[in-house]
Amino acid sequence: MLGPVILAASRSDRMRRLISAAPVTKQVVDRFIPGETVADIVPIIQDLTAKGLELTMDVVGEDITTPEQATTARDAYLALIDHLEQLRLGEKVEMSVKLSMFGQALDGGHELALANVRPVVEAAAAIGTTVTLDAEDHTTLDSMFAIHEELRKDFPQTGCVIQAYLFRTEADARRLAAAGSRVRLVKGAYKEPAEVAYQQKHEIDKAYVRVLRILMEGEGYPMIGSHDPRLIAIAQELAHKAGRKLDEYEFQMLYGIRGDEHLRLAAEGHRMRVYTAYGTDWYGYFMRRLAEKPANLRFFVRSMITK
Ligand code: FDA
Repeated sequence: MLGPVILAASRSDRMRRLISAAPVTKQVVDRFIPGETVADIVPIIQDLTAKGLELTMDVVGEDITTPEQATTARDAYLALIDHLEQLRLGEKVEMSVKLSMFGQALDGGHELALANVRPVVEAAAAIGTTVTLDAEDHTTLDSMFAIHEELRKDFPQTGCVIQAYLFRTEADARRLAAAGSRVRLVKGAYKEPAEVAYQQKHEIDKAYVRVLRILMEGEGYPMIGSHDPRLIAIAQELAHKAGRKLDEYEFQMLYGIRGDEHLRLAAEGHRMRVYTAYGTDWYGYFMRRLAEKPANLRFFVRSMITK
């Protein structure tokens, strides 16, 4: 029951102000968002790649209110890509972007987000890597998929995310499971109404398997975004049945969650990509991580009380 309450709080400005100003134990936020600047994050990128892992980088931020903030977001990604080029890590590290951070919800937001994300996709391609468009709440998705399609005309490697909890996703997966596409499948992290999304965990898990089957049997490149041991085992089985080699799909997990599993899958020869978030505007990302596992909230509250 706690999850939906925390997700509602994740969209509340009042809660954002309260929690962001609270003496939050750095340790709790750091578990999921291990740095604020490029300088903080570079040693982490070097450490994870040295362990045989790949990364996708998220400069945290979303729901911006001015076009200037969208430009700042774009520039933050461009600065990161510049650093990756200097480190010669381009091929191991891709970017994940939230279009709301690029202005999607503002007036004329669709065009603005496309104009802001394009230079990031271009810069990523120039250093041999790519960008994946994260999936936000369901009202943003038609625009996200249209931007994805537009970007793929020049940069076919551009990926996107689909969310198993949405009723629409099986149809999206069929459309996207074509040669050359890169699709990350996740369960879904937003508070969605019963008109558009499954609400029960067992229904979401079953939908995940149905969509996974479509992706594995299709011609694209599936990216399995989950920490769920059952779904990971099913993904391995479906990949095997579909005759996919180890480099024809990949696993993805979030930084700070099931780190041993990242290493285990990489040691088995799987491509394992760690979604690593950094930056100062961590509130929305952090709250979604709390909502996914109520034990995180108990730890968080305890650390605030004992501080
Ligand atoms: P589930 O929630 O059932 O968790 C399985 C197990 O993993 C738990 O039992 C626990 O051990 C561990 N675990 C999961 N979450 C945890 C947490 N927060 N803290 C501690 N342990 C935890 N969503 C979205 O809507 N749009 C997006 O673009 C993305 N992008 C994305 C990228 C990647 C790489 C991942 C892994 C996930 C996302 N998500 C996302 C989030 C996703 O929708 C989902 O909320 C989380 O992955 C949790 O679901 P699981 O599949 O891990 O299963």
